[in-house]
Amino acid sequence: MRSFLLTALWSACLWTLSGASPGVDASPTPTTSADTPAFTYNASSFLLHGASYQMIGGQMDPQRIPPAYWADRLAKARAMGLNTVFSYVYWNLLEPKQGIWDNSGGNNISHFFSLAATAGLHVVLRPGPYICGEREWGGFPAWLTQVKGLQTVRSHDPAFLAAATSYLERLAADLRNTTAPNGGALVMVQVENEYGSYGKDHQYTAALRDTLRASFPGVVLYTNDGGVDWTLAGGSVPGVLAATDGDPRGGFNARRLYVTDRSMQGPLLDGEYYTLAPDFWGTTQPHNVPTDGQTATFLRDLDYVLSGGNSISLYMFHGGTNFGLSNGALYRNTNVTAPFTTSYDYGAPLDESGRTTALYTQLRRTILRRLLAAERAAVPAPPANIPHMALPAVTLTPYSSLFASAPDNSTEAASPVTMEALGQAYGLVLYEHIYNGTSPIKGVLHPGDRARDRVLVYVNGVCVGVIDSTYERPATVTVSLKPGDHLQLLVENLGRVDYFSQEATTANMLLDPYKGIRGDVTVGGTVLHGWESKGYPLESTPTANTSTPSGSGPLFYRGTFLVDAPTDGDLSRLDTFLAVPAGVKGVVWVNGFCLGRYWVIGPQQSLHLPGPVLRTGANLTNEVVVLELEPETVVSAKTTFTAIGLADRVWANHPDPDAP
Ligand SMILES: *[C@@H]1O[C@H](CO)[C@@H](O)[C@H](O)[C@H]1NC(C)=O
Ligand SMILES: *[C@@H]1O[C@H](CO)[C@@H](O)[C@H](O)[C@H]1NC(C)=O
Ligand SMILES: *[C@@H]1O[C@H](CO)[C@@H](O)[C@H](O)[C@H]1NC(C)=O
Ligand SMILES: *[C@@H]1O[C@H](CO)[C@@H](O)[C@H](O)[C@H]1NC(C)=O
Ligand SMILES: *[C@@H]1O[C@H](CO)[C@@H](O)[C@H](O)[C@H]1NC(C)=O
Ligand SMILES: *[C@@H]1O[C@H](CO)[C@@H](O)[C@H](O)[C@H]1NC(C)=O
Ligand SMILES: *[C@@H]1O[C@H](CO)[C@@H](O)[C@H](O)[C@H]1NC(C)=O
Ligand SMILES: *[C@@H]1O[C@H](CO)[C@@H](O)[C@H](O)[C@H]1NC(C)=O
Repeated sequence: MRSFLLTALWSACLWTLSGASPGVDASPTPTTSADTPAFTYNASSFLLHGASYQMIGGQMDPQRIPPAYWADRLAKARAMGLNTVFSYVYWNLLEPKQGIWDNSGGNNISHFFSLAATAGLHVVLRPGPYICGEREWGGFPAWLTQVKGLQTVRSHDPAFLAAATSYLERLAADLRNTTAPNGGALVMVQVENEYGSYGKDHQYTAALRDTLRASFPGVVLYTNDGGVDWTLAGGSVPGVLAATDGDPRGGFNARRLYVTDRSMQGPLLDGEYYTLAPDFWGTTQPHNVPTDGQTATFLRDLDYVLSGGNSISLYMFHGGTNFGLSNGALYRNTNVTAPFTTSYDYGAPLDESGRTTALYTQLRRTILRRLLAAERAAVPAPPANIPHMALPAVTLTPYSSLFASAPDNSTEAASPVTMEALGQAYGLVLYEHIYNGTSPIKGVLHPGDRARDRVLVYVNGVCVGVIDSTYERPATVTVSLKPGDHLQLLVENLGRVDYFSQEATTANMLLDPYKGIRGDVTVGGTVLHGWESKGYPLESTPTANTSTPSGSGPLFYRGTFLVDAPTDGDLSRLDTFLAVPAGVKGVVWVNGFCLGRYWVIGPQQSLHLPGPVLRTGANLTNEVVVLELEPETVVSAKTTFTAIGLADRVWANHPDPDAP
């Protein structure tokens, strides 16, 4: 989705348009065929096997949901009265290294689409290649930065287009059997994503259209843009149905007013109606839950769309989780970004752990009221919510030191090497330098051109400060170095920026997604030469080390616990929210599965631990591993560190112990 801050701004713009009289939409059928196609549209309606089809849609992205729960979430979508599911898919998970395709497990999109068909739902694919979506770099793989000759993403840059085309064609090959013309659930594919908010390279979007047309034969294509003139001008594509998002009145009016090319006209679709907004990390950023006023607006807008015979997709129906290190970040200004939380709860009708909410019940009632009696009868009752499990405190003991563990890749050079040049996408890079000047120096440390994104600064093993891109003003750390001193900069990728407006005049972070250190490190203006750059992608945890780690820096902790199998076999009874109450900032794995980041500042204070990750039974040990990045800040960490599973989740904000 578009940055929600801008959404608010644009909604205000759209209100100014809402008084305008709607244009008359009477263009001829854009696609006609002698045989009745499985799915198409005329000037006013989507047509499923020739009959008018109103999309009552909601978004959920399979790659944010444990695959064991896909069928459950889809059944609950159908039970809310939805008939269509909209899904982004994430290129960076499907093609983690260039040319390496991973469609297993949570990336098995064709399986998700088949399950959707079983649940009685149609699906709309939103493959990007750029999807925004509060995901790392909007779904772009970090290796794009290393592709020879690639200058500009989201453009007709030949090297970018070649990579994007290869991705879309490979994805299409997986999904061939799931398309509506082949009897499957997939009815429509989006071209790019809100491209008009970013640019106006029509050669690029036309190339994507042609690739998708050829790769998904007979499947309807559409674009989705903000409902204002310049976004529609930049984002709509000849021959492709133009949809709008945000406030439906403003969006539909804008579609009628500004989309004058008949080949882009057709039924009105609000492709992203926001229910509600993602959370991002920050001491003053509370968790989003819909207020009564917001809920009333959602119900009114949904009813407006449905009663007008138009189509809609609720963004999100179910947000899910940014498992691993997959969250994106919101751009704020040149040096300031706000990373999104591990949870992508979104305040959505189906919460992060797949339980229905009060909003779900109210939206369901609104939808059912608008259905014909036969359609209403076909909507199943939603299942009752299963309580979450509580897990007694698990003692965590340190078992390995990050600084003592072997990096994935390391290189020595005069200057620091970026994370991407090390062949790494996510995680940490440790930069080490032995000061070899002839006299001591003291001054402000600059970790390259800016903090990318959070830099823990150590001199001779002692943490002397934190520079962090989330801070409103650049945090400065002053260091003193004598000849022979050991300087270590541990740099964490907090999530690449996923949204950037063409209106922004400063450095474009979609074109500058580099992490680690870029440029020279200076202290008081003196450039330091001679660096070892060590990559820690955190794709796995270190193997057990029996010696208690000594020295400084982040520590890996480990604990074990047993759980009983649920008597009825329903693994969602084991769902819990894992908290590390004394932790400052770090990453948690259970049985090798990375639940994501925690951070004391909140609002997220516990991580969704899905039941299927656990091993059940008297003899089967579960292992929780915690990487605490700042163990020196955790009181008596070496003895009292614990993890605990909460049945009732609490959201809270706390002061940042590292704030400048
Ligand atoms: C589109 O098709 C529907 C269903 O057949 C029909 O009711 C409607 O009149 C058609 N609209 C136009 C503009 O042809
Ligand atoms: C995807 O899921 C289907 C259905 O479960 C399965 O047959 C197929 O092997 C899976 N693909 C991969 C790559 O795991
Ligand atoms: C599509 O279905 C056919 C026939 O069942 C099968 O042979 C083929 O492997 C399937 N293709 C994919 C990509 O699943
Ligand atoms: C960004 O950081 C750089 C380097 O610390 C500084 O020179 C510049 O003024 C900062 N810009 C903003 C907008 O804060
Ligand atoms: C390790 O880093 C070096 C230096 O940046 C790079 O040339 C090399 O390709 C990297 N190795 C891998 C496996 O990515
Ligand atoms: C310090 O080390 C760097 C990198 O090895 C080297 O380029 C530089 O000449 C050294 N400086 C001194 C004063 O020895
Ligand atoms: C085990 O821990 C010790 C002490 O921290 C460390 O020196 C050693 O390198 C570690 N071994 C491995 C294999 O990580
Ligand atoms: C599991 O533990 C029980 C009780 O300790 C023991 O009787 C049984 O043999 C064990 N089973 C396995 C597979 O180890």
